[in-house]
Amino acid sequence: MSSSEVLQALPIPVLVVGQDQRVTGQNGAAAHLFGADLLGRHVATAIRQPALLEAIEAVLVGAPHADARLVFSPHGRDLIYNVHVATLSSERSAILTFLDVSRQEEAGQMRSDFVANVSHELRTPLTALTGFIETLRGPARDDPAARARFLDIMEKEAGRMNRLVTDLLSLGRLEDMGWMRPTDLVELDQVILMVINALNPAAKDRNVDVRASFDTTRPVIVLGDRDQLTQVFTNLTENAIKYGHKGGTVQITVKAVAQMPAFKGPGLEVTVQDDGDGIDSKHLGRLTERFYRVDNHRSRELGGTGLGLAIVKHIVNRHRGRLRIESTPGAGSCFSVTLPVPDPT
Ligand SMILES: Nc1ncnc2c1ncn2[C@@H]1O[C@H](COP(=O)(O)OP(=O)(O)O)[C@@H](O)[C@H]1O
Ligand SMILES: [Mg+2]
Repeated sequence: MSSSEVLQALPIPVLVVGQDQRVTGQNGAAAHLFGADLLGRHVATAIRQPALLEAIEAVLVGAPHADARLVFSPHGRDLIYNVHVATLSSERSAILTFLDVSRQEEAGQMRSDFVANVSHELRTPLTALTGFIETLRGPARDDPAARARFLDIMEKEAGRMNRLVTDLLSLGRLEDMGWMRPTDLVELDQVILMVINALNPAAKDRNVDVRASFDTTRPVIVLGDRDQLTQVFTNLTENAIKYGHKGGTVQITVKAVAQMPAFKGPGLEVTVQDDGDGIDSKHLGRLTERFYRVDNHRSRELGGTGLGLAIVKHIVNRHRGRLRIESTPGAGSCFSVTLPVPDPT
């Protein structure tokens, strides 16, 4: 067993650096990362990162091992490696193994961004509530009209906090469920009619006409989780009502698709189309991110949490479905969910 054979067999990038700091060995994974022409070159010309060069030097002058972090962007994407440098004393060399920790770092960053966002979202209504309590105790104590107005606002803010916590709990539960695919037979037409019914007060408020049409034989059955699918179409329809035109129309259409993309088999497509201002294409890719909103102020004004579409995306993924968002500024938006239907056999 030659040592070069061992190097080549390893799936992670490995380099060997000799006493003169020139590269004397590299495996395929390292060639893929740094380029194939490293052999014989001074390591500093390939990897210009002082911390790593220090670690290599330390090992070459006698330290048993040293670690360094390497951050670079070879193909336009930030990669972060933990580099372990160990001595190969018999060859008076150092062996470098590169462990890709980009994903962990990214996940850690996302977690702390998320916590910062949640804190901020909760703090805003809390600050408003605290402020109004002060006012009610002081200046507005003997002013019934002001008191009524402030209590209304306080109720709205408390409602927003409540929705935020509910949405966060939903997301948490969805994450706990992992990748288990739901297996109940759900009558989708019933779900949609129920959603429309439940949103009737919201639609009335904005004088919006919500219509459903079923271009398929009923009942419409999908494999799914009834409560979660209810949530999906509630969130999408609620958005269409909120962000569509006052006095406008929201059209929900269900039709059969013979072959779902990326899912070998038939499916059902539900589209929720509104006649609002639409969404600029630069936002489309990010709408399902947690707390991403096109217009922060407008969303908050309308009582939004910024989590609705993140929940939709999560549920649709769990159902092995597809969410597609299309919008033409000025001509409304169209959110389509495709779901697999059970095999007729
Ligand atoms: N039908 C729609 N028309 C225009 N913009 C929309 C529509 N649905 C969602 N959006 C945009 O996407 C953002 C995120 O939606 P969502 O996750 O449901 O959060 P929320 O409605 O609580 O703000 C909204 O703030 C809004 O800017
Ligand atoms: Mg929403």
